[in-house]
Amino acid sequence: MSVVYDIEAVTKHYPGAAAPANDEITFTVARGEIFGLLGPNGAGKTTLVRQLSGLLRPTSGRITLFGTDVTAHPHVVAEHVALQPQSPAALLDLTAAEAVHHTGRLRGLTTVAARAQTAALLALLGIDQLAARRVRTLSGGEKRLVSLAVTLVADRPVLILDEPTNDLDPAARRLVWDHLRKLNAEGRTIILVTHDVAEAERVIDRVGLVNHGRLLALGPTAELRRRVDQRVRLDIALPEHTDPVLDELLADAGDQLVRDGDRALLLVARDRVRDVLDAVADRIGPTGLSDLRVQGPSLEDVYLQLGGRDRLG
Ligand SMILES: Nc1ncnc2c1ncn2[C@@H]1O[C@H](COP(=O)(O)OP(=O)(O)O)[C@@H](O)[C@H]1O
Ligand SMILES: [Mg+2]
Repeated sequence: MSVVYDIEAVTKHYPGAAAPANDEITFTVARGEIFGLLGPNGAGKTTLVRQLSGLLRPTSGRITLFGTDVTAHPHVVAEHVALQPQSPAALLDLTAAEAVHHTGRLRGLTTVAARAQTAALLALLGIDQLAARRVRTLSGGEKRLVSLAVTLVADRPVLILDEPTNDLDPAARRLVWDHLRKLNAEGRTIILVTHDVAEAERVIDRVGLVNHGRLLALGPTAELRRRVDQRVRLDIALPEHTDPVLDELLADAGDQLVRDGDRALLLVARDRVRDVLDAVADRIGPTGLSDLRVQGPSLEDVYLQLGGRDRLG
């Protein structure tokens, strides 16, 4: 296995913050994988990828890219990595085409090559009609696609994408995921940040789940999901006021992940599902149950089980 990034005990304290935004984070990213960093808002994902990109210095710990320390040698990042930032602040005053073209030139393309790649990328992402528009005037989803085109120009071997599908409509999301998968199949290493677990689950090879600055779990997607595989997820919409006996029953039924006033989300052993549903139905009567979903386990369940309290999506 050839290592692209080696991240060792990275901690980031923002001045004045009570808790670290990244707390002793350690993992490696191998060449050719799609690595997903998942976690709720505020988990520390953007802080981490800004450090991977050399835009922010770790308070302590060490990040190497192809064996070279990125803090001491930020040029290695520029050479190998393209970051799609969470918001494209630097591009706002350019047109979409200028943003892609200039970035291509900065990354060493000739004018002719930059022009050709700009046209090809805008067409590929379905935004050629936006070429002459100032980025500032575009919608959130359009900005996101332009910033992806900027990231992809001049073809860096390592892509870091911070919430690449936020604000995109379903068709654009599909286009982006499909294209990322294609780029990966052609050999690019991709690190992507998302809180959209359901979608990411289909694309990523390996996952780091983060919350409160800590890496809560790390492993291949399938392996993390297997941790909850012998169980089923019950998502039950309850009447606003349930009786204490029902609360007790739900608490005993399995791992209770969410219990709000009118909602219970549980992980229940497969062979207990029927009993639990029967017992719930007995307590609340035939009209009490307004919605019930039974699902196979997902990455989100793993995350919730590991102590994540905030919902991911
Ligand atoms: N520039 C900054 N200065 C101070 N605190 C920050 C800064 N950027 C982020 N934070 C804080 O660090 C934590 C992690 O933020 P962030 O890395 O943006 O999380 P995520 O990308 O997972 O939503 C949050 O508590 C956030 O408020
Ligand atoms: Mg973020």
